[in-house]
Amino acid sequence: AMKPEFYRPQYHFSAPKNWINDPNGLIYYEGEYHLFYQHNPFDNVWGHMSWGHAVSKDLLHWQHLPLAIPEFTHPDGKTKTAIFSGSAVIDKGNQSGLCPDGTKDCMVAVYTGNVSVGEKQTAQYQNLAYSADKGRTWKQYDKNPVLDLKTKEFRDPNVFWYAPQKKWVMSSVKATEHRVAFFESKNLKDWKLMSHFGPQSDTTKVWECPALMSVPIENEPGKSKWVLFISAGHPQKGYVGMQYFVGDFDGTHFTLDKDNPKPIAPAVSNVVDYGKDYYAAIQYNNLPIQDKNPVMIGWLNNWEYGNKLPTTPFKGAMSLPRQIALKRTTDGLQLIQQPIGSSSSLRGKKIERQNIKLTNQILTLEKRIANSYEIEAEILPGTAKRVGIRLAKNGSEVTIIQYANGKLELDRRKSGQTDFSDRFPSVEQAPVKPQNGLIKLRIFVDKSVVEVFINDGERVITDLIFPNKSEGEIDLFTEEGSAEFKKITLWPLASVKQ
Ligand code: FRU
Repeated sequence: AMKPEFYRPQYHFSAPKNWINDPNGLIYYEGEYHLFYQHNPFDNVWGHMSWGHAVSKDLLHWQHLPLAIPEFTHPDGKTKTAIFSGSAVIDKGNQSGLCPDGTKDCMVAVYTGNVSVGEKQTAQYQNLAYSADKGRTWKQYDKNPVLDLKTKEFRDPNVFWYAPQKKWVMSSVKATEHRVAFFESKNLKDWKLMSHFGPQSDTTKVWECPALMSVPIENEPGKSKWVLFISAGHPQKGYVGMQYFVGDFDGTHFTLDKDNPKPIAPAVSNVVDYGKDYYAAIQYNNLPIQDKNPVMIGWLNNWEYGNKLPTTPFKGAMSLPRQIALKRTTDGLQLIQQPIGSSSSLRGKKIERQNIKLTNQILTLEKRIANSYEIEAEILPGTAKRVGIRLAKNGSEVTIIQYANGKLELDRRKSGQTDFSDRFPSVEQAPVKPQNGLIKLRIFVDKSVVEVFINDGERVITDLIFPNKSEGEIDLFTEEGSAEFKKITLWPLASVKQ
């Protein structure tokens, strides 16, 4: 077992202690970005789901706040409602009347009540809680549930304001039917079914955490499409991951666009992240106008081994917030994800090299650096069978990022501790086409987190690693041929220590 705190990310969000999973209720209000999250207040494994809470002014430095919405026991003394995933909205002018009279704006959480008696789950439905003090204290709505289909697999309400029809729209999943159900409401209390989407593409796992949003097309100024994200669908079967659909939303129905990108292979969905550890991402609500691109945060873990991560006293972290766009390509409308800019403020003294040509060679970029840094690389693949970067290297321990056969790979099989689950050691692969001959990488390493943004966000690979040393070597390499690093820049990144 490692020392407590050993794997604590330095600039990715994690909770002070105990288990976290999905981000919940992402909302911006009066200068604060709120991050609520699935949390077990009592233990470092999943259970007693409640909403934890933190706020930030820049989506980078987070201030931890007390537990926002705890699991509660019903008056009968034995029935319990766990607070499963959901979203938050700002009800301007408190039109719902949920908050006390005179409240300027009411912050409303729409979440799934997961009800159980002892070990037996008895219901899953949508509840409301509300806060009149910027999310600091919460009350449960006394007429919960607001939406009950009398099934046990109906969850993860994602609500947003649909301005053209002045109404709230909710996407939620019928998880085992692989369907998203869309509902509408004028007051957040009464909900009416509008339509369904699915089953579609990957249905190997239950569908969870839907998120529907309008997304600008970056190479067609002024144009946008609707994108529906669903947590379910991983290129390597058996793991959870995320898929997306590009289409239109008319206030009632979501329909696929003819330029919904063609899946990379039959029966493989449009993959959001080709790594193992990006899940349950949702978007920020109520962003200030100048941020017209949606911003999403995902949970860095995988249900296949989630509870077994070798970290203490915390388990689980959040991705860097990602700005979302679409780009028209010959393969259709592709999802673009880019880390938000604020992480650049953490950059220390850079190391930069240009025009490094390697032929069956290894070049050490840095002998010893703490595992908290960012790398930007522009690679001309040339004739090499494999060209790439070895990270967090100590003796035979190494994490490999390489371009080979039209794919960008992340190999964590020798990355350090991998034997806590036989589902953990793995090689991830994302199909990649050079742009003007170049492969562009932006790599974030943060103790136990690696996020790789490829070709300005056209592909992303996010994986956890657990090296046995807190610092390591960084090497550039080519195998079986030549390649050139046109440019490579390395910045140590400072901690945002909460
Ligand atoms: C997704 C999920 C959600 C659920 C929550 C429970 O990771 O399974 O569907 O609401 O986690 O913690």
